[in-house]
Amino acid sequence: MSDSIILGIESSCDDTSAAIIKGNSILSNIAANQAIHKEYGGVVPELASRAHQQNIIPVVEKSLTKANIQQNAISAIGFTRGPGLLGSLLVGTSFAKSLAMSLDVPLIEVNHLQAHILAHFIDDANPMPPAFPFLCLTVSGGHTMIVLVKDYFDMEIIGKTTDDAAGEAFDKIGKIFDLDYPAGPIIDRLAKEGNPNAFTFNKPRLEEYNYSFSGIKTSVLYFIQKEVKKNPDFIKENLNDLCASVQRTIIEILMAKLEKAAKDLEVKEVAIAGGVSANSALRQAMQDNHEKLGWNIYIPKFEYTTDNAAMIAMVAQLKFQRGEFTDLRTTATSKYDL
Ligand code: KG4
Ligand code: ZN
Repeated sequence: MSDSIILGIESSCDDTSAAIIKGNSILSNIAANQAIHKEYGGVVPELASRAHQQNIIPVVEKSLTKANIQQNAISAIGFTRGPGLLGSLLVGTSFAKSLAMSLDVPLIEVNHLQAHILAHFIDDANPMPPAFPFLCLTVSGGHTMIVLVKDYFDMEIIGKTTDDAAGEAFDKIGKIFDLDYPAGPIIDRLAKEGNPNAFTFNKPRLEEYNYSFSGIKTSVLYFIQKEVKKNPDFIKENLNDLCASVQRTIIEILMAKLEKAAKDLEVKEVAIAGGVSANSALRQAMQDNHEKLGWNIYIPKFEYTTDNAAMIAMVAQLKFQRGEFTDLRTTATSKYDL
């Protein structure tokens, strides 16, 4: 890997982020979160794009300052072209295009989902990067899929959710419990004090390696409605047990298919990626399978799990080495296949 310096920009959802990579070392990885969405219990697209507009220049400036890099040292600019919220993507895309034009450096489009997976190749992400082919359970607020990664840019989705994403399930169930958005990290924290076997919720029975998470959400909703009728304080009195039981169920659903895929395909290199890969029970389940099944496991550092520009810069660096550049006339795309 050469030592080229690349600026990565991420703006697909509600985090505005900029990172500087040199070779495959991250020199800075700055993010501005948008607290505004908490009040609404979810991301409001119009507010997200407005906040990106306010944040993008300070975030990029900070990434340069923190990395101690002058603009003229940048060899290329990578940006998230999709998938994501169109209004949010447009802010990052327009900014990246203008900056590439003014600095006269190549522009490099990045697929956000590939980036979550390829974050494993950042030099401090793992003691050793995964070996091809590996399986990557990619779990975020918008996506849940098992990807067979044959090479950097040769990925096959072998299973995916047929309805809600796992992160979405955490967030929607959290809303039933009256927790703030995003509820995933809160459920994770409260679950540590609860009994994971206190309650049982329905699990889906789907073919092959596909997932479904809308059933567990409905199962929790009906259960809560029934219990709250008998005891209005039911949620408050059982919150930790509820969180622990929901988390156990979601993680069991995720792991069952991942284990089936690893067994069927005879792959022992297994990674996780995306926002939900921050979940402590998922991390523990991976660790258990390392011990039980001999998996070589790849669990990203926290800063590379939820949306971040370091992973965008990493993919841009890989494409830069291959001379894969993007025309300045490109546009953002809300849907973008792997
Ligand atoms: O990858 P990400 O930052 O954004 C998307 O591309 O969607 O993932 C965000 C999702 C949210 O649904 C959030 O609740 C979930 O990741 N999440 C977690 C945890 N940390 C973030 N879910 C469960 N446990 C966590 N510790
Ligand atoms: Zn993401």
